[in-house]
Amino acid sequence: MDNYGYLAAWVAARRTDGVLLRVLDYGCGLVSMLRDQRVDCYGCDVFVNVGKPPREYLSDGTLFGSVIKDMPDGRIPFPDEFFDIIVNNQVMEHVQDIESTLAELQRVAKPGGSLISVFPHKAVWREGHCGVAFVHWFPKHSRLRLYYAMACRALGFGYHKERLGSIGAWARDRCRYLDEQTFYRTLPELRRLFGSYFENVTQGEANYARQRFGSRYRVVAVLPDAVLVALVRMAAGCVLSCEKKPRRGAVEDDTVFTPHRQPGNSTAIFKNGVVKLRELAFFATKVLE
Ligand SMILES: C[S@@+](CC[C@H](N)C(=O)[O-])C[C@H]1O[C@@H](n2cnc3c(N)ncnc32)[C@H](O)[C@@H]1O
Repeated sequence: MDNYGYLAAWVAARRTDGVLLRVLDYGCGLVSMLRDQRVDCYGCDVFVNVGKPPREYLSDGTLFGSVIKDMPDGRIPFPDEFFDIIVNNQVMEHVQDIESTLAELQRVAKPGGSLISVFPHKAVWREGHCGVAFVHWFPKHSRLRLYYAMACRALGFGYHKERLGSIGAWARDRCRYLDEQTFYRTLPELRRLFGSYFENVTQGEANYARQRFGSRYRVVAVLPDAVLVALVRMAAGCVLSCEKKPRRGAVEDDTVFTPHRQPGNSTAIFKNGVVKLRELAFFATKVLE
């Protein structure tokens, strides 16, 4: 199982009878897979560093615009309180203004909705975009880091070596990428940031290790959680999940508008005489598309 499989299983485990959950894949990668599994999944992405139009970047270009959306102004292009679950894989380390992003994710999550983020944090040993250990521990723009990267590359370490040419060119390219596209944070900082916008911040590295590697390595079954947590945090990163505070006194408020319910369930657009106009408007645009 890979990260996509892990996240798909995480979503499936939250599916309750008869309700098709509405999911946002923030920084897309999972949308087609989840939709194939009959999950009502949408995506949005800033499509950084792509070098071609986002539509060409997607394996299924037909989803672009309706199901998968660009975020030209940095806002998530979906209504408030729209998603039951938000997933993101290998995205948060690329987000510079994480507070604005978390505020946006909190806005589009339904009360009681869940967020799960799988991504590398600062304490990971090997930097995943360069393939060189500890290179992300140096300060940005550090000269020393450039020499360190060159030395590691000369010793044979690093990704994309063929594509990026000489040792110097490779090290400059990768260090520039780290400066511009990565923003590593420590776990305590991440927990504090996630906790400012969501509640019940939980770390799921042990469960992640068991699900991802349990069938491949039998030793995983006998290792204590603490060991698995340490290994995952060192080798891959963190698995943070949290929830948006439920609305006080709300009684099944998310059934106000339920075009995502599976056939056979009654569709209630009105409840207690209340219409969620922005959701109705969004549904109308979907129908017109
Ligand atoms: C390493 S890729 C992961 C893509 C996908 N989640 C997957 O697992 O295949 C990182 C993605 O995050 C997106 N990204 C970077 N910064 C972002 C931001 N501030 N908001 C949304 N997406 C962002 C990039 O455009 C890119 O598609």
